[in-house]
Amino acid sequence: MVKSKNLTWHDGQVSRDSREELLGQKGVTIWFTGLSGSGKSTIAVAAEAKLREQGRLTYILDGDNVRQGLNSNLGFSPEDRTENIRRIGEVAKLFTDAGVIVLTAFISPYRADRDQVRDIMAGGDFLEVHVSADVETCEKRDVKGLYAKARAGEIPEFTGISAPYEEPEKPEVVLDSAAHSVEESVDQLLGFLQDKGYLSA
Ligand code: ADX
Repeated sequence: MVKSKNLTWHDGQVSRDSREELLGQKGVTIWFTGLSGSGKSTIAVAAEAKLREQGRLTYILDGDNVRQGLNSNLGFSPEDRTENIRRIGEVAKLFTDAGVIVLTAFISPYRADRDQVRDIMAGGDFLEVHVSADVETCEKRDVKGLYAKARAGEIPEFTGISAPYEEPEKPEVVLDSAAHSVEESVDQLLGFLQDKGYLSA
């Protein structure tokens, strides 16, 4: 819902098509979702490096980073997570309109929040990528030591332990990071982008 009244959308003289022509690529948002420790950020970082090698302009929006800046006033209640994802969705939409290949790495546990982002973007601009490692795998890895803290009751509302994660029903891509290496997941993702024409411009 837009709170302000008396707003008029102002178009510039330079179109998205023109920016994409300048960059020689198409803008798109690659939306990683999955549990903490599933490998979202790791795969996004590795995919970004490969895309850079191919001459692509990319940008990563990562939960742990964005929560220290733009979203520093948000916590992990359901309402705050929804607002976290809403803001990131809007930022990703702007970056996509700029012609950038955006990779977002947020748990984004609620299906409705992810669908809301899909809804504000043009068809084909939003690709949902489920990094599908299960909670046992993520807890075993416990890269940041957060699962141990959550089990000890030191982190309330921890996704997968004391807060829900709603799996995507129809993600464009599923990356099984429990069964595949980071490199294999990156190859699978880039193969998908190539096949669907996202890298052909
Ligand atoms: S989201 O649920 O709102 O999408 P986001 O991806 O921005 O979450 O942030 C998740 C990161 O915050 C985790 O990777 C972890 O490092 C940290 N974190 C701290 N507290 C929690 C919590 N209660 N639940 C999940 N992640 C948490």
